[in-house]
Amino acid sequence: MTSARGFQAVFGQPPEAEASAPGRVNLLGEHTDYNEGFVLPIAIPQQTHVGMRRNGQGAFRLHAQAMDQTVAFTLDAPPAAHFACYVYGCLVETAREGVALEPLDIHVASDVPMGVGLSSSAALEVATLRCLRGLLDLPLDDVQIAHLGQRAEVRHAGVRCGLLDQMASSLAGTTRALLMDTRSLARREVPLPAGSALLVVDSGEPRSLAASGYNERRAQCEQAARLLGVASLRDVPDLQALDGLPELLRRRARHVLTENARVLAAAGCVHARDFGALMNASHASLRDDYAVSTPAMDRLVSLLQAHPQVQGARLTGAGFGGACVALCVQGAQAAIARAVLPAYAAGGGQARVLVPAEAS
Ligand code: GLA
Repeated sequence: MTSARGFQAVFGQPPEAEASAPGRVNLLGEHTDYNEGFVLPIAIPQQTHVGMRRNGQGAFRLHAQAMDQTVAFTLDAPPAAHFACYVYGCLVETAREGVALEPLDIHVASDVPMGVGLSSSAALEVATLRCLRGLLDLPLDDVQIAHLGQRAEVRHAGVRCGLLDQMASSLAGTTRALLMDTRSLARREVPLPAGSALLVVDSGEPRSLAASGYNERRAQCEQAARLLGVASLRDVPDLQALDGLPELLRRRARHVLTENARVLAAAGCVHARDFGALMNASHASLRDDYAVSTPAMDRLVSLLQAHPQVQGARLTGAGFGGACVALCVQGAQAAIARAVLPAYAAGGGQARVLVPAEAS
Protein backbone atom coordinates (compact mmCIF):
# COMPACT_ATOMS: atom_id res chain seq x y z
CA MET A 1 0.00 0.00 0.00
CA THR A 2 1.33 3.48 -0.82
CA SER A 3 1.94 5.78 2.08
CA ALA A 4 -1.15 7.92 1.24
CA ARG A 5 -3.57 5.01 1.47
CA GLY A 6 -1.74 3.52 4.42
CA PHE A 7 -1.74 6.90 6.16
CA GLN A 8 -5.49 7.27 5.70
CA ALA A 9 -6.06 3.73 6.99
CA VAL A 10 -4.01 4.30 10.16
CA PHE A 11 -4.72 7.95 11.00
CA GLY A 12 -8.18 8.40 9.44
CA GLN A 13 -7.19 11.41 7.33
CA PRO A 14 -5.01 11.92 4.24
CA PRO A 15 -1.39 13.09 4.63
CA GLU A 16 -0.54 16.76 4.05
CA ALA A 17 2.76 15.83 2.40
CA GLU A 18 4.28 12.72 0.86
CA ALA A 19 7.74 11.81 -0.40
CA SER A 20 9.76 8.79 -1.46
CA ALA A 21 13.43 7.83 -1.70
CA PRO A 22 15.17 4.74 -3.12
CA GLY A 23 17.57 2.23 -1.65
CA ARG A 24 20.96 1.85 -3.40
CA VAL A 25 23.40 -0.78 -4.45
CA ASN A 26 27.07 0.13 -4.37
CA LEU A 27 28.90 -1.17 -7.46
CA LEU A 28 32.41 -0.35 -6.24
CA GLY A 29 33.99 1.75 -3.48
CA GLU A 30 33.23 -0.14 -0.28
CA HIS A 31 34.43 1.24 3.06
CA THR A 32 36.04 4.13 1.25
CA ASP A 33 33.55 6.89 2.10
CA TYR A 34 34.63 7.37 5.72
CA ASN A 35 38.21 7.52 4.41
CA GLU A 36 37.31 10.44 2.13
CA GLY A 37 37.60 8.23 -0.95
CA PHE A 38 35.56 7.36 -4.04
CA VAL A 39 32.26 5.48 -4.39
CA LEU A 40 30.13 4.27 -7.29
CA PRO A 41 26.52 3.54 -6.21
CA ILE A 42 23.31 3.36 -8.23
CA ALA A 43 19.73 3.62 -6.95
CA ILE A 44 17.56 0.49 -6.93
CA PRO A 45 13.90 0.55 -8.01
CA GLN A 46 12.63 -0.19 -4.49
CA GLN A 47 11.57 2.90 -2.54
CA THR A 48 10.52 4.02 0.91
CA HIS A 49 7.39 6.18 1.07
CA VAL A 50 6.66 8.63 3.88
CA GLY A 51 3.48 10.59 4.57
CA MET A 52 3.05 13.33 7.19
CA ARG A 53 0.36 15.47 8.73
CA ARG A 54 0.39 17.94 11.63
CA ASN A 55 -1.64 16.23 14.35
CA GLY A 56 -2.32 19.04 16.84
CA GLN A 57 -1.39 16.64 19.68
CA GLY A 58 1.35 16.68 22.29
CA ALA A 59 3.46 13.95 20.65
CA PHE A 60 4.68 12.64 17.30
CA ARG A 61 3.09 9.36 16.18
CA LEU A 62 4.99 7.14 13.79
CA HIS A 63 3.47 4.11 12.09
CA ALA A 64 5.73 1.61 10.32
CA GLN A 65 3.75 -0.56 7.96
CA ALA A 66 6.40 -3.28 7.88
CA MET A 67 6.06 -3.83 11.63
CA ASP A 68 2.38 -2.87 11.81
CA GLN A 69 3.38 -0.81 14.82
CA THR A 70 2.74 2.77 15.93
CA VAL A 71 5.06 4.49 18.40
CA ALA A 72 4.57 7.87 20.07
CA PHE A 73 7.46 10.11 21.11
CA THR A 74 8.48 13.70 21.72
CA LEU A 75 11.76 15.25 20.59
CA ASP A 76 13.02 15.28 24.21
CA ALA A 77 13.85 11.58 24.35
CA PRO A 78 14.65 8.90 21.75
CA PRO A 79 11.89 6.33 21.16
CA ALA A 80 12.48 2.85 22.55
CA ALA A 81 11.76 1.12 19.21
CA HIS A 82 14.98 1.10 17.17
CA PHE A 83 13.29 1.59 13.78
CA ALA A 84 11.84 4.89 15.05
CA CYS A 85 15.32 6.27 15.84
CA TYR A 86 16.01 7.03 12.17
CA VAL A 87 12.91 9.21 11.86
CA TYR A 88 13.43 10.69 15.31
CA GLY A 89 17.04 11.50 14.34
CA CYS A 90 15.91 13.30 11.18
CA LEU A 91 13.39 15.35 13.16
CA VAL A 92 15.89 16.26 15.89
CA GLU A 93 18.62 17.18 13.41
CA THR A 94 16.19 19.35 11.44
CA ALA A 95 15.06 21.06 14.65
CA ARG A 96 18.74 21.70 15.53
CA GLU A 97 18.97 23.64 12.26
CA GLY A 98 16.48 26.08 13.79
CA VAL A 99 13.29 24.67 12.26
CA ALA A 100 10.27 24.79 14.60
CA LEU A 101 8.55 21.39 14.44
CA GLU A 102 5.06 20.74 15.72
CA PRO A 103 4.01 17.15 16.41
CA LEU A 104 3.24 15.12 13.31
CA ASP A 105 1.58 11.87 12.36
CA ILE A 106 4.04 9.99 10.16
CA HIS A 107 3.43 6.88 8.08
CA VAL A 108 6.24 4.80 6.58
CA ALA A 109 5.81 2.10 3.94
CA SER A 110 8.80 0.59 2.18
CA ASP A 111 9.70 -2.07 -0.30
CA VAL A 112 13.45 -1.55 0.15
CA PRO A 113 14.75 -4.85 1.54
CA MET A 114 15.86 -4.32 5.15
CA GLY A 115 19.10 -5.41 6.74
CA VAL A 116 20.83 -6.63 3.57
CA GLY A 117 23.12 -3.70 2.74
CA LEU A 118 20.85 -1.85 0.30
CA SER A 119 20.47 1.23 2.53
CA SER A 120 16.93 0.87 3.78
CA SER A 121 17.89 3.24 6.60
CA ALA A 122 19.18 5.94 4.23
CA ALA A 123 16.03 5.58 2.11
CA LEU A 124 13.98 6.14 5.26
CA GLU A 125 16.04 9.15 6.29
CA VAL A 126 15.98 10.78 2.86
CA ALA A 127 12.25 10.13 2.37
CA THR A 128 11.53 11.55 5.84
CA LEU A 129 13.59 14.67 5.17
CA ARG A 130 12.11 15.15 1.70
CA CYS A 131 8.65 14.90 3.20
CA LEU A 132 9.51 17.45 5.90
CA ARG A 133 10.95 19.72 3.20
CA GLY A 134 7.68 19.49 1.27
CA LEU A 135 5.47 19.93 4.33
CA LEU A 136 7.29 22.94 5.74
CA ASP A 137 8.71 24.35 2.50
CA LEU A 138 12.24 24.11 3.91
CA PRO A 139 15.11 25.57 1.86
CA LEU A 140 17.14 22.33 1.82
CA ASP A 141 18.92 21.00 -1.27
CA ASP A 142 19.55 17.31 -1.93
CA VAL A 143 23.11 17.43 -0.60
CA GLN A 144 21.96 19.07 2.65
CA ILE A 145 19.32 16.37 2.96
CA ALA A 146 22.03 13.71 2.62
CA HIS A 147 24.12 15.39 5.33
CA LEU A 148 21.16 15.65 7.71
CA GLY A 149 20.28 11.99 7.10
CA GLN A 150 23.86 10.91 7.81
CA ARG A 151 23.90 12.92 11.03
CA ALA A 152 20.62 11.31 12.07
CA GLU A 153 22.17 7.88 11.60
CA VAL A 154 25.49 8.64 13.30
CA ARG A 155 24.02 10.48 16.29
CA HIS A 156 20.77 8.60 16.80
CA ALA A 157 21.16 5.09 15.37
CA GLY A 158 24.71 4.39 16.56
CA VAL A 159 26.41 3.66 13.21
CA ARG A 160 29.37 5.91 12.37
CA CYS A 161 28.53 5.70 8.65
CA GLY A 162 29.99 7.83 5.87
CA LEU A 163 27.98 9.74 3.27
CA LEU A 164 27.66 7.05 0.61
CA ASP A 165 24.15 5.81 1.36
CA GLN A 166 22.42 9.12 1.95
CA MET A 167 24.07 10.75 -1.08
CA ALA A 168 23.08 7.80 -3.26
CA SER A 169 19.49 7.79 -2.01
CA SER A 170 19.23 11.56 -2.38
CA LEU A 171 21.04 12.00 -5.71
CA ALA A 172 21.43 8.78 -7.70
CA GLY A 173 19.11 7.50 -10.41
CA THR A 174 18.40 3.89 -11.36
CA THR A 175 19.86 3.94 -14.87
CA ARG A 176 23.35 5.39 -14.34
CA ALA A 177 25.81 4.98 -11.49
CA LEU A 178 26.93 8.01 -9.49
CA LEU A 179 30.69 8.44 -9.24
CA MET A 180 31.38 10.53 -6.16
CA ASP A 181 34.45 11.91 -4.43
CA THR A 182 33.34 11.83 -0.80
CA ARG A 183 35.90 14.49 0.16
CA SER A 184 34.93 17.24 -2.28
CA LEU A 185 31.47 15.79 -3.08
CA ALA A 186 32.33 16.26 -6.77
CA ARG A 187 30.24 13.77 -8.72
CA ARG A 188 29.23 12.66 -12.18
CA GLU A 189 27.06 10.01 -13.73
CA VAL A 190 28.67 6.89 -15.16
CA PRO A 191 26.75 4.58 -17.51
CA LEU A 192 26.98 0.84 -17.02
CA PRO A 193 29.10 -0.81 -19.72
CA ALA A 194 27.06 -1.40 -22.89
CA GLY A 195 25.07 -4.63 -22.91
CA SER A 196 25.33 -5.19 -19.15
CA ALA A 197 22.80 -5.09 -16.32
CA LEU A 198 22.72 -5.71 -12.59
CA LEU A 199 21.61 -8.63 -10.51
CA VAL A 200 21.37 -8.19 -6.73
CA VAL A 201 21.04 -11.30 -4.59
CA ASP A 202 20.47 -11.56 -0.85
CA SER A 203 22.70 -14.26 0.64
CA GLY A 204 20.09 -14.93 3.33
CA GLU A 205 22.69 -14.40 6.02
CA PRO A 206 21.61 -11.77 8.57
CA ARG A 207 24.06 -8.93 9.16
CA SER A 208 24.19 -9.47 12.90
CA LEU A 209 27.70 -8.14 13.56
CA ALA A 210 27.45 -5.31 11.10
CA ALA A 211 27.21 -2.32 13.47
CA SER A 212 30.04 -3.35 15.80
CA GLY A 213 32.26 -4.70 13.01
CA TYR A 214 31.66 -1.57 10.96
CA ASN A 215 32.60 0.82 13.74
CA GLU A 216 35.69 -1.30 14.49
CA ARG A 217 36.87 -1.14 10.84
CA ARG A 218 36.39 2.59 10.84
CA ALA A 219 38.43 2.96 14.03
CA GLN A 220 41.21 0.83 12.48
CA CYS A 221 41.35 3.11 9.44
CA GLU A 222 41.54 6.17 11.67
CA GLN A 223 44.34 4.58 13.66
CA ALA A 224 46.24 3.74 10.47
CA ALA A 225 45.87 7.34 9.26
CA ARG A 226 47.12 8.64 12.61
CA LEU A 227 50.19 6.38 12.52
CA LEU A 228 50.92 7.52 8.96
CA GLY A 229 50.51 11.17 9.96
CA VAL A 230 47.75 11.93 7.43
CA ALA A 231 44.27 13.37 7.93
CA SER A 232 42.66 10.38 6.25
CA LEU A 233 43.72 7.35 4.21
CA ARG A 234 42.80 9.33 1.10
CA ASP A 235 46.06 11.21 1.59
CA VAL A 236 48.35 8.17 1.46
CA PRO A 237 50.33 8.48 -1.79
CA ASP A 238 50.97 4.80 -2.58
CA LEU A 239 50.95 1.26 -1.21
CA GLN A 240 54.63 1.45 -0.23
CA ALA A 241 53.78 4.10 2.33
CA LEU A 242 51.85 1.44 4.24
CA ASP A 243 54.94 -0.74 4.82
CA GLY A 244 55.63 0.49 8.35
CA LEU A 245 52.13 -0.23 9.67
CA PRO A 246 51.29 -3.21 11.90
CA GLU A 247 50.06 -6.06 9.67
CA LEU A 248 46.35 -5.80 10.47
CA LEU A 249 46.22 -2.06 9.89
CA ARG A 250 48.32 -2.43 6.73
CA ARG A 251 45.71 -4.81 5.29
CA ARG A 252 42.80 -2.55 6.19
CA ALA A 253 44.52 0.46 4.64
CA ARG A 254 45.58 -1.54 1.57
CA HIS A 255 41.92 -2.35 0.89
CA VAL A 256 41.02 1.33 1.04
CA LEU A 257 43.81 2.39 -1.32
CA THR A 258 43.24 -0.37 -3.86
CA GLU A 259 39.46 0.10 -3.71
CA ASN A 260 39.78 3.81 -4.49
CA ALA A 261 41.90 2.92 -7.51
CA ARG A 262 39.30 0.36 -8.64
CA VAL A 263 36.49 2.92 -8.51
CA LEU A 264 38.42 5.36 -10.66
CA ALA A 265 39.41 2.62 -13.11
CA ALA A 266 35.80 1.38 -13.36
CA ALA A 267 34.51 4.86 -14.13
CA GLY A 268 36.64 4.76 -17.29
CA CYS A 269 35.80 1.18 -18.29
CA VAL A 270 34.25 0.59 -21.70
CA HIS A 271 34.03 -3.19 -21.57
CA ALA A 272 31.84 -5.03 -19.11
CA ARG A 273 34.52 -7.70 -18.58
CA ASP A 274 37.01 -5.07 -17.37
CA PHE A 275 34.44 -3.54 -15.03
CA GLY A 276 33.55 -7.02 -13.79
CA ALA A 277 37.19 -7.91 -13.14
CA LEU A 278 37.41 -4.86 -10.87
CA MET A 279 34.32 -6.08 -8.98
CA ASN A 280 35.91 -9.51 -8.53
CA ALA A 281 39.10 -7.91 -7.24
CA SER A 282 37.04 -5.76 -4.88
CA HIS A 283 35.42 -8.84 -3.40
CA ALA A 284 38.80 -10.51 -2.85
CA SER A 285 40.08 -7.37 -1.13
CA LEU A 286 36.99 -7.12 1.10
CA ARG A 287 37.39 -10.79 1.98
CA ASP A 288 41.15 -10.96 2.51
CA ASP A 289 42.27 -7.48 3.54
CA TYR A 290 39.17 -5.94 5.06
CA ALA A 291 37.71 -9.19 6.49
CA VAL A 292 34.06 -8.22 6.09
CA SER A 293 32.87 -11.19 4.03
CA THR A 294 31.58 -14.51 5.37
CA PRO A 295 32.02 -18.10 4.11
CA ALA A 296 28.42 -18.19 2.82
CA MET A 297 28.83 -14.89 0.99
CA ASP A 298 32.13 -16.07 -0.54
CA ARG A 299 30.39 -19.20 -1.80
CA LEU A 300 27.52 -17.25 -3.37
CA VAL A 301 29.88 -14.74 -4.98
CA SER A 302 32.07 -17.59 -6.34
CA LEU A 303 29.02 -19.30 -7.86
CA LEU A 304 28.02 -16.05 -9.53
CA GLN A 305 31.55 -15.33 -10.75
CA ALA A 306 31.75 -18.81 -12.30
CA HIS A 307 28.61 -18.31 -14.39
CA PRO A 308 29.49 -17.59 -18.04
CA GLN A 309 27.02 -14.71 -18.30
CA VAL A 310 28.31 -12.97 -15.19
CA GLN A 311 31.03 -10.39 -15.80
CA GLY A 312 31.88 -9.80 -12.16
CA ALA A 313 30.40 -10.09 -8.68
CA ARG A 314 31.10 -8.88 -5.16
CA LEU A 315 29.48 -8.35 -1.80
CA THR A 316 27.85 -4.94 -1.54
CA GLY A 317 27.34 -2.63 1.42
CA ALA A 318 29.13 -2.95 4.71
CA GLY A 319 29.39 -6.77 4.51
CA PHE A 320 29.09 -9.28 7.40
CA GLY A 321 26.34 -11.06 5.40
CA GLY A 322 23.63 -9.32 3.40
CA ALA A 323 23.51 -8.94 -0.37
CA CYS A 324 25.90 -9.19 -3.30
CA VAL A 325 25.80 -7.54 -6.73
CA ALA A 326 26.73 -9.03 -10.10
CA LEU A 327 27.30 -7.34 -13.43
CA CYS A 328 25.62 -9.57 -16.01
CA VAL A 329 24.90 -9.89 -19.68
CA GLN A 330 21.75 -7.82 -20.16
CA GLY A 331 18.62 -9.97 -20.06
CA ALA A 332 20.42 -12.97 -18.56
CA GLN A 333 19.64 -12.25 -14.90
CA ALA A 334 16.73 -14.67 -14.56
CA ALA A 335 18.71 -17.52 -16.19
CA ILE A 336 21.70 -16.79 -13.94
CA ALA A 337 19.48 -16.84 -10.85
CA ARG A 338 17.92 -20.14 -11.97
CA ALA A 339 21.39 -21.69 -12.18
CA VAL A 340 23.05 -20.15 -9.14
CA LEU A 341 20.35 -20.14 -6.45
CA PRO A 342 19.76 -23.92 -6.42
CA ALA A 343 23.53 -24.55 -6.34
CA TYR A 344 23.82 -22.20 -3.35
CA ALA A 345 20.82 -23.85 -1.67
CA ALA A 346 22.47 -27.27 -2.12
CA GLY A 347 25.28 -26.01 0.13
CA GLY A 348 22.81 -24.85 2.77
CA GLY A 349 22.00 -21.21 1.89
CA GLN A 350 18.66 -19.56 1.19
CA ALA A 351 19.32 -16.79 -1.35
CA ARG A 352 16.74 -14.62 -3.09
CA VAL A 353 16.88 -12.19 -5.98
CA LEU A 354 16.23 -8.57 -4.98
CA VAL A 355 16.97 -6.76 -8.27
CA PRO A 356 15.53 -7.04 -10.86
CA ALA A 357 12.24 -7.91 -9.21
CA GLU A 358 11.07 -9.86 -12.28
CA ALA A 359 14.02 -12.28 -12.00
CA SER A 360 12.97 -13.36 -8.48
C1 GLA B 1 27.42 1.24 5.06
C2 GLA B 1 27.62 2.71 5.46
C3 GLA B 1 28.26 3.51 4.31
C4 GLA B 1 29.51 2.82 3.77
C5 GLA B 1 29.24 1.33 3.51
C6 GLA B 1 30.48 0.56 3.17
O1 GLA B 1 26.46 1.15 4.04
O2 GLA B 1 26.39 3.30 5.82
O3 GLA B 1 28.55 4.82 4.76
O4 GLA B 1 30.60 2.99 4.61
O5 GLA B 1 28.64 0.67 4.63
O6 GLA B 1 30.99 0.97 1.96
